[in-house]
Amino acid sequence: MARKLPEEQTVRDLKLTITDSTTLPRDKERGLSLVELREPQWCLEDLVLADSARKLLVRIVEENRSSQLIRGFGLWPMRRALFWGPPGCGKTVAAEAIARELYLPLAVVRFDAVISSYLGETSANLRKVFDFARQRAMVVLFDEFDAIGKMREDRDEHGELKRVVNAFLQMMDGFRADGVMIAATNHERLLDSALWRRFDEVVHFSRPDKHQIGDLVTRNLRQMPLAPNVFLKSLTARMAGMTHADIERVVVNSMKSTIMSGEKEISPTTIREEIAKQRERDNAASGHLTRESRTQKRPSRKRNASPPRR
Ligand SMILES: Nc1ncnc2c1ncn2[C@@H]1O[C@H](COP(=O)(O)OP(=O)(O)O)[C@@H](O)[C@H]1O
Ligand SMILES: [Mg+2]
Repeated sequence: MARKLPEEQTVRDLKLTITDSTTLPRDKERGLSLVELREPQWCLEDLVLADSARKLLVRIVEENRSSQLIRGFGLWPMRRALFWGPPGCGKTVAAEAIARELYLPLAVVRFDAVISSYLGETSANLRKVFDFARQRAMVVLFDEFDAIGKMREDRDEHGELKRVVNAFLQMMDGFRADGVMIAATNHERLLDSALWRRFDEVVHFSRPDKHQIGDLVTRNLRQMPLAPNVFLKSLTARMAGMTHADIERVVVNSMKSTIMSGEKEISPTTIREEIAKQRERDNAASGHLTRESRTQKRPSRKRNASPPRR
């Protein structure tokens, strides 16, 4: 998979071209920028993923690398992907990696700016984003895409959500330009079943298994070794159920504690303490979420009818 990137300059040049030749779309009322351009830092190789997810991502990249060839036969490469799974398991960084592998700029759509309280303005904002994406090939990430799904609960009285979702689907269906559109969500159940069907590919980002946890620990350790009496196997068992981001945090914090205590190797006590801290943090967060969901209006069954389609 590893393909040597041309000089670092290239992605930066693309970014310059895009900001020079086009103005970033903005919300009319508030003047907020609807899109944020990012320079992709991650390659697919940097990601620790389940084989099934990696295969799908590689396929998206390969089809788009062969875009000319495929289009010569009157077909389209995969251009619309939905990424779903718990937060901190790599959806955003995978979108970055796809952009980097394809040497395309990454445009992250800011949903907080797209969703407007002015009637009709949200669809107008989405249209501006799609018009922008037509100007040149890029990877567009509709990150935290659940914001659209959540509107169903908040705004249904005006029927605006339905209009926004329909507008989004139509724009996505009608989108005939080079580049890849990715929508990412942590709450796949909030999304309408019609949405799931409209994507060429659906990629599930799961929490890491034991083998992947071990891989993440060693990748994040960089130069600092674990003390010889730390057993990776027992560590991975202790970290079962954590997300990639949690594991990264445990390792980074263990390294910092070790540096500050003037030691050269990460001791079993240090890493165990950091794991315990992370667990506490997770418990506090999930307690908060449970309280939050209890206070939210329960969605009706019909609205959330569709299970994830794979
Ligand atoms: N699959 C992965 N492989 C390696 N690191 C990961 C992975 N997933 C997440 N991370 C780490 O966690 C951070 C947050 O990941 P992110 O892609 O923002 O998660 P998500 O978008 O799924 O919430 C990343 O910046 C990266 O450091
Ligand atoms: Mg994300």
